[in-house]
Amino acid sequence: MSIFYLLFFHLILSSDVWICAFRIQLPGLRPAVVNKTAIDLVSPQSAARVNQDKLHFSQQPRIGARFAVPGNTAQQTDAKTQLSTRPLRIIISGAPASGKGTQCELIATKFGVVHLSTGEILRSAMRQNTPLGQEVRVYMDHNRLVPDDIMIRLVSERLQQPDCSTHGWVLDGYPRTKSQAESLLQSGIKPDCFILLEVPQDILLERATGRRTDPVTGKVYHVRFSPPQHKHIADRLIHRHDDTAEKIITRLKDYQHHTAVVRTYFEDVLVKVNGNASKEEISKSILGTLSRIQTSIAAGVGVK
Ligand code: AP5
Repeated sequence: MSIFYLLFFHLILSSDVWICAFRIQLPGLRPAVVNKTAIDLVSPQSAARVNQDKLHFSQQPRIGARFAVPGNTAQQTDAKTQLSTRPLRIIISGAPASGKGTQCELIATKFGVVHLSTGEILRSAMRQNTPLGQEVRVYMDHNRLVPDDIMIRLVSERLQQPDCSTHGWVLDGYPRTKSQAESLLQSGIKPDCFILLEVPQDILLERATGRRTDPVTGKVYHVRFSPPQHKHIADRLIHRHDDTAEKIITRLKDYQHHTAVVRTYFEDVLVKVNGNASKEEISKSILGTLSRIQTSIAAGVGVK
């Protein structure tokens, strides 16, 4: 009889039995299954938060274990998270004033990726009168695309910076030509997603001519669709030199000439989005798509 009791207590104390019990979800504790490898135990409240903000855990790999329980060190969880996911690589494309920059701001906030706007990099170089700024001014002033060799060098150097490999990136306005697309793929850079914003021409004209930029913060407004809240901001807003109807039409022609070829390189990851909707509706659609892509990556079935 005493041998029977000894065996019984041995079984109860055995760690394997406890691990089994946790895996079959003991009441009050359940695994937050956010990826194939994660078996972190969280309270029901925390699990609900995981469900509400889908994959919050894997969206913030650099922050680490938000829902870890005692005994599961942050280092262990960080290692697991890094194994199971990696930062997103996104390209956003669309006609001039289709809303790429506006959506990139929201994507960067949600996913923590680096927003790389080639137009903004060039404008900033011109403002600061750097060698790059001096080199590209003639093209920008005449509303023409900057030559491929300059753009390819600029973007490939920028993508090699540590912030891009750590946090991922969203490329806004690149690639814009066949050579730029080919060079990106030849250097082994494959995006997880190529978002194409589709907006009718009359809407593009209205968005471009009403666009205003805050020179202090870089934030983009629209006199009708998203005016600033404060008068002191409204007073300092500037109108981009290339935002006249005539210049928009030239840029639009350039875009139409190149876009059909560029997108053929990314058909397998192409996501068309109706850009003729409110900023919030477009954002909901894009962020939902990106969350699903991130889930696939974490599950090991995404683009490598
Ligand atoms: P770039 O700055 O990239 O210009 P773009 O492609 O013409 O795009 P925009 O910045 O005009 O528009 P957007 O789509 O970001 O729209 P936004 O969010 O601001 O390039 C400028 C120049 O640089 C080029 O012409 C070229 O010379 C050179 N360049 C850049 N990249 C190059 C490359 N790869 N190769 C060669 N040359 C290159 O929105 C527009 C307005 O609409 C805003 O006022 C916004 O508030 C409003 N808005 C946005 N969404 C909505 C919505 N849903 N509803 C209502 N209003 C909205």
